[in-house]
Amino acid sequence: MKIGVFDSGVGGLTVLSELLKVSNGHEFYYLGDTARVPYGIRSTETVIKYALESTRFLLGFDIDLLVVACNTVSARALNVLKKKFPQLEIYGVVNPAVEKVAKIARKRVGVIGTPATVKSKIYPQGIKRLRPSIEVFQKATPLLVPLAEEGITDGTVAETVLNHYLKGWEGKIDTLLLGCTHYPLLEETIKKLFPEWEVVNSAKPLAEKLENILTLKGKEINEIHLFFTDKTEFLETMIKRIPLKGEIKELQTKTVLEII
Ligand code: DGL
Repeated sequence: MKIGVFDSGVGGLTVLSELLKVSNGHEFYYLGDTARVPYGIRSTETVIKYALESTRFLLGFDIDLLVVACNTVSARALNVLKKKFPQLEIYGVVNPAVEKVAKIARKRVGVIGTPATVKSKIYPQGIKRLRPSIEVFQKATPLLVPLAEEGITDGTVAETVLNHYLKGWEGKIDTLLLGCTHYPLLEETIKKLFPEWEVVNSAKPLAEKLENILTLKGKEINEIHLFFTDKTEFLETMIKRIPLKGEIKELQTKTVLEII
């Protein structure tokens, strides 16, 4: 099976990493739009335009299914993609995470994400639809994206920024949902600072949802093809930091989208 995965940049590699853990020898085509990251501060129209371009690029590899490994795109453009490409099976990261949180949260949930994801209210609305009694707080935490990209995922600076955003939720929430693909890189530090919280990484529920398909026997080993729209400063460090189970067959770090 050929699976297309795209994100605004390198953060979606945390999603790819979870998919590869359960995959039994499939081919993955990952596109990271490093030339145009971040998406989280852009208008819905622009996010939709970028999402359509990325999908068209991946369709060029004859993919059988598409994973939108970006919370911002899943929140803002998933319905448009499903309408434009009815022949393609498309999965986003939001719904599986909503279902997981609705299942495990006790009373109060905190959701962190990009400004675009927070503004869409997709997480609080989704969680409340499934469990109306749960109280949901949300916060845009855009500084966490450059921190993760620079590899500043622990130590004083990371802890100061995390405390700045999250300290106010101490004693208030029981579950924290990481609604952005970059945030799992800070998960260990978050758990250290706030050990009483159940932390949900939105990539894992998606991998669980696709487990039935991905565990079907494919080739001997997972094959990974990586494409990025720009060779950015921390790209290679990030690729090395995120475990990718399989063989990297191809890594292109030039302008791959014709449109750019
Ligand atoms: N990948 C984005 C997301 O999950 C985060 C980075 C961005 O703003 O583009 O929302």
